Parts: sequence; C-alpha cells; structure tokens
Amino acid sequence: MRIVMIGTGYVGLVTGTCFADSGNDVTCVDIDQRKVDMLNRGEVPIYEPGLAEMVQRNSKAGRLTFTTDLAEPVSAAKCVFIAVGTPMSDTGAADLTYVMKAAEAMAPHLKPDAVVVVKSTVPVGTNRKVLNLLREKTGREVHVCSNPEFLKEGCAIDDFTKPDRVVVGVTSPEVGEVMRELYQPFLRTDHPFLVMGLESAEMTKYVANCMLATKISFINEMANVCELVGADINDVRRGIGHDQRIGFSFLFPGVGYGGSCFPKDVRAMEHVAAEKGFTTELLKSVDAVNDRQKNVLFNKLKKHFGDLQGKKIAVWGLAFKPRTDDIREAPSLVLIRSLLEVGAKVFAHDPVAMENVKKEFGNRVTFCSHHYEALDGADALAIVTEWNEYRTPDFGYIKHKLKQPVIFDGRNLYDPAKMAREGFTYNGIGLTA
Ligand code: UGA
Repeated sequence: MRIVMIGTGYVGLVTGTCFADSGNDVTCVDIDQRKVDMLNRGEVPIYEPGLAEMVQRNSKAGRLTFTTDLAEPVSAAKCVFIAVGTPMSDTGAADLTYVMKAAEAMAPHLKPDAVVVVKSTVPVGTNRKVLNLLREKTGREVHVCSNPEFLKEGCAIDDFTKPDRVVVGVTSPEVGEVMRELYQPFLRTDHPFLVMGLESAEMTKYVANCMLATKISFINEMANVCELVGADINDVRRGIGHDQRIGFSFLFPGVGYGGSCFPKDVRAMEHVAAEKGFTTELLKSVDAVNDRQKNVLFNKLKKHFGDLQGKKIAVWGLAFKPRTDDIREAPSLVLIRSLLEVGAKVFAHDPVAMENVKKEFGNRVTFCSHHYEALDGADALAIVTEWNEYRTPDFGYIKHKLKQPVIFDGRNLYDPAKMAREGFTYNGIGLTA
C-alpha cells in the first residue's frame, strides 16, 4: 500500500518505518529540511533501540523515503497519516495548529478514495473537525480514521509490531477494512483489531493514559503512607498484585511520572471535560500527586542533611525513564533545579540523556561520562532513573567513593536488607526505614 506519514517525530517515524518494514511503500514528510536530510542519510535524530537499523534497511530497499514535499506523494497515496505534534498550550489544552495545517496542506492533493488517518493524540472532536475541514476544502466526501498509538518510548518497535490491540475509529466500515489490511501482519488472535466510532477511539487513547497515570499516582501516594506507618510498599505491591483484578503492572512507586504523554494527556482530558462544564476531580488529584512526588527525593535529602548548601550530590539517571534520551517533564529536572537553588553541587550521569540536560543547565551541573565518576567525594547518591547499568553496582566501590555511604533511591533498585548489611544509609520510596 502507498502511505504518506506527515511528521517524522517519535510516533511518525516509528509508525512509518514499521509499515515500510511490513512491505508498504512509505513516504515520510516533514517541514524540517535538516531532519529530512539526516534521515535520508540513515541518521535517526532520536534514541530508540532498533530504529536506526530499521530505517537504514528499509531506505536501502527503496520502501522508505523522506521529503519536505507533500503534494506528489499524497496524490498517489491510499493512506495519509497525520502524526504531527500536539503540544500542550498555556491553558492545558492540546494545541491542534499542526494537525489542522497538515489537513489543509494535503486537501488539494488527496485521491478520492484516500483515507486520512489521525495518529497524533488529539482531544475528542478533532477527527470530526479534520473531516469537516477536508470536506470543505475538497468539496466532496472524505474518509477519515482515528488511529491512536500506544507506543512506549524505548520499546516502540516491539509495541508496534506486537500490539496488545489496534484501535481504529471510523465513519464507514470500508475504512475499517483498509486499516485492517494495513495492520494484518501485526495482528494475532489475542491481539484484536477494534473498530469503533471516531469519538470512542479518541477517548480510548486518553482514557488508557489517564488510567496508567492514575495507577502511578495511586501507588506513589500509598508508598508515602507506607513510610509513615512503617509498612513496606514492595510487600504491599506484591500483596495486591496477586489479586487478579488488580495485577502487577504500572504499580512501581517512584519519583513521579514524566515524559511527553502522561502529564500532557491528563491535563488535556481535564480540559476536554471542563469545556463541557464537568470537573474531573480524580485527574486533578492525579496531576497534583505527581507534582508533589517529583519533590520527594529533594525533601528526603533536605530532611537528612538539614542544610544542603555546598553539599555535593551525585545524580544517576536523567531521562524520564530508561532506554530513552527524552527529558520532557523528567523528575530529574525538578530535583536538580531544587538542589541548585539551595546551593548544592550536582554531579550527574545518564547513558544517553546528558546532552539534552546540558541544554537546560549548562555548566551549572557537572556531567560525568561514567556513573562511578559522579560519586567522587559526593555526600550522597540520588537515583532518579532505573537504567539497567545502575541495578547491580559494586557497592564496595560506591562506599569507597562517597564521602558518606548515603543513597536516596527514587526507583527502589536495591534490597534494603542488603544495603544495611553493606553499611549504607538507604532511603527508598515507601520502604521501612
Ligand atoms: C506512555 C504509555 O505507556 C504508552 O502506552 C502511550 O502510547 C504513550 O505514553 C503515549 O501516549 O505516547 P511513555 O510515556 O513512553 O508511554 O512511557 P511509560 O513507560 O508509560 O512511562 C511513563 C512514566 O511513568 C515514566 O516516567 C515512568 O518512570 C513512570 N512509571 C511507569 C512509574 O513511575 N511507575 C510504573 O510502574 C510505571
């Protein structure tokens, strides 16, 4: 099938490349000439495991091309995907400027039977707005499909090729069939293809992210209570996870969720409801609990040291989660900002995200090329992101390097009993002291 993907951000690039890999002819369009040139050279501007090889392989096979010119590929395409950004505006609502611009630009070139697929995360009602705009611009009936994505950064290729489910919102059964054909190579009997209305598909995306964000804020709140009453959240988590109605996933306490999706989508959902005169009390709390949780490591450090002025703190992990260099809404930024404000010195390490954090803090933070290097003479180690290389360190060596054997672990990576035996003062999230 001939496909056009408008937007080569994270979602567009992964989706376009995976569709090329399953044998389609894919043209990715972006307004950024520099990015298009890079991609045509086989260079991928983001860090996502396996993506660069896949881009190179499919480009070489002639199934994947990148261009700034939209007209020609759109005029030959059966499916035109919109995968441009929907950043959060000042009010918390999703900014739809790029989505509507893409729809407007493609309108004169669309084939009569083409399907326009909205992949960007958009608030309820946007697909219908796109449909109306295209009707108006083309003067005829147009096929529009809402096809939300459920990719996790760091696992995006696996999530795409082995989806738990594919959701499409359609205005006619024919559109559903075109989409089913496209996704057929990735479907399994227990990974269903779900066809529904436009609004339901749009809601599905937000409800999934709001549910997951709620689980995290819930477990973080419970972890904080555990600490106060002398309970251990790891035991409690196991205790509840075996209840099949609850399950184990997304119940790891931590320093709050970050990334480009949960914070933005929770607020956008609140906004959608507010526009209809409804207040989503639960989501307001999910958001507030998360903001508070991002301060949890700093508060623990402050409680331990009293005055942090002049203290040297090693920070392991800057990305909002492992396997990505994405630092949007990352809890590490909140911690570093607070530490710098009170005059502490920050020595930071991350396997891939340091360049991005450097842009934010410049030389106010010392970036270390190895995680052990950050420990030299530090008063404490704070762990923010659970990269694999931090999971089984040489504790003897850590103790030798730190000025004091104190660890603040925002991801509960280590066994508190072992840490006590090793002679550390170990502070996790929701653990018994
Ligand atoms: C999330 C969803 O998981 C995807 O399904 C969705 O497609 C994507 O948003 C999106 O809307 O584009 P992502 O933001 O890449 O994916 O990352 P997650 O792996 O979901 O993690 C989000 C945050 O939650 C991270 O900061 C992570 O550290 C935190 N988290 C996750 C916890 O604190 N505890 C957990 O148990 C799980």
